[in-house]
Amino acid sequence: MTFEKHILCIGAGYVGGPTMAMIACRCPRYRVTVVDVNREKIDQWNSDELPIYEPGLDEIVRAVRGKNLFFSTDIPKAIEENDIIFVSVNTPTKNYGVGAGMAADLQFWEKTAREILKYSKSPKIVIEKSTLPVKTALAMERILNSNHHGIAFDVLSNPEFLAEGTAVRDLTSPDRVLIGSEETERGLRARDILVEIYANWVPRERILTSNIWSSELSKLVSNAFLAQRISSINAISALCEKTDADITEVSRAVGTDSRIGPKFLNSSVGFGGSCFKKDILNLVYLCRHYGLNEVADYWEGVLKINDYQQDRFVLTMIDAMFNTLSGKKICVWGFAFKADTGDTRESPAIRITKRLVEENALVIVSDPKALKNARADLCGLEDRVSFVEDPMEAVKGCHALCVLTEWDLYRHQDFEAVYASMAKPSFLFDGRNILDHGKCFRIGFNVYPIGKPPMTHFQ
Ligand code: UDX
Ligand code: UDX
Repeated sequence: MTFEKHILCIGAGYVGGPTMAMIACRCPRYRVTVVDVNREKIDQWNSDELPIYEPGLDEIVRAVRGKNLFFSTDIPKAIEENDIIFVSVNTPTKNYGVGAGMAADLQFWEKTAREILKYSKSPKIVIEKSTLPVKTALAMERILNSNHHGIAFDVLSNPEFLAEGTAVRDLTSPDRVLIGSEETERGLRARDILVEIYANWVPRERILTSNIWSSELSKLVSNAFLAQRISSINAISALCEKTDADITEVSRAVGTDSRIGPKFLNSSVGFGGSCFKKDILNLVYLCRHYGLNEVADYWEGVLKINDYQQDRFVLTMIDAMFNTLSGKKICVWGFAFKADTGDTRESPAIRITKRLVEENALVIVSDPKALKNARADLCGLEDRVSFVEDPMEAVKGCHALCVLTEWDLYRHQDFEAVYASMAKPSFLFDGRNILDHGKCFRIGFNVYPIGKPPMTHFQ
């Protein structure tokens, strides 16, 4: 079969894998290849056990793999054979040199650009999928067009807005697809080719185009706004705990204002995930670079509140449990940064578990999908931390139970049995406000929700 387009994605991670599976699924006339430097990951993509857990993804991959979706480690061959190349390699926060702890580390991106340059024998459209600081595309264009073989490269920005756990739904029916290009004749032609790909399943009015810098910046700003809503509601949760207000009622009242809207107003133990912190740090770094210190301070506040919320959670535990956690067994339900994913990057559970260990507690971590990652995150703490998948088994004999991820299965446990199996007095800290607090209190727990007065049996 001859294919109409040959599409490649470099980087088979949480973004590259699902996005390419969706393109292959919706566009049977295109051949889609995904490559990665990590052989183990590619082997997993080619097996029945995909490297990431994402509801609905298995079915899509199974339907198209080997037909028009291929996973490989042969990067040179893939670059040579494809003319539309998405780049979705990771861009972590830099941990060395200038901008350490804030700026994006672009070494993988630049290395990838140089590989594209090295192995290309024909013109290519190169598409930034990784989140990058504003103006990275310019640098890429310069590197790519520094060749002496007369090959032309067009660089587009096409940030990904999918959220983990709902990636398939977000890709199937995105709020919008954003494509940034240079506003030259060539740039616009390249942009139209990408618009055509998405138009196979996304309504045209949802495909937004802009200049390349606006597109790069919009991704950072979208994530900063989402995170800012969570920090705003979490900041208010601290005030609610001191007063008789209830954060769920406040967030419902605030969110029903159609100008504000109800989403992303769930108070929690803090946000995690690979993007929010990294992208805000990037934004802050960018603002400082341009001398906009007030703007940088404003956005940095979002991260400060997020750390504060996690630390506050641990302080509440210490305070509630008679000022010492030493030698006490604490069960953590949920280690993933959100429900329906096995991903633990920047998960609040990491910081909280480490803080509990510092207090000499013994922590039993439970999670239906994230224990492999949790073990890696807590490597070196094995003498203080154990891992038990079954939540009922994990909580046995514990002094306290903390809920750190909003997995649905935690709502449906037998709390009479949980209470019966725990040490007394039993403490329940609901870092996601997903349990029936009144019921748990009546069973006998001392209950500490987020942003609501605690319910205790102490005088
Ligand atoms: C990535 C970026 O981190 C993020 O900034 C962007 O918004 C979307 O793409 P994600 O897909 O979650 O996010 O990253 P990850 O799951 O770490 O996948 C990146 C993949 O790139 C890894 O599998 C890694 O092995 C691969 N990679 C990295 C390469 O193939 N080549 C490299 O040089 C570096
Ligand atoms: C985010 C963006 O939503 C997505 O558009 C972008 O492409 C990547 O970053 P993701 O990190 O996968 O996606 O998940 P998201 O649903 O945004 O949740 C991020 C964190 O915020 C999680 O830890 C979640 O538990 C937390 N959260 C979310 C809250 O604490 N309260 C809320 O109301 C919503």
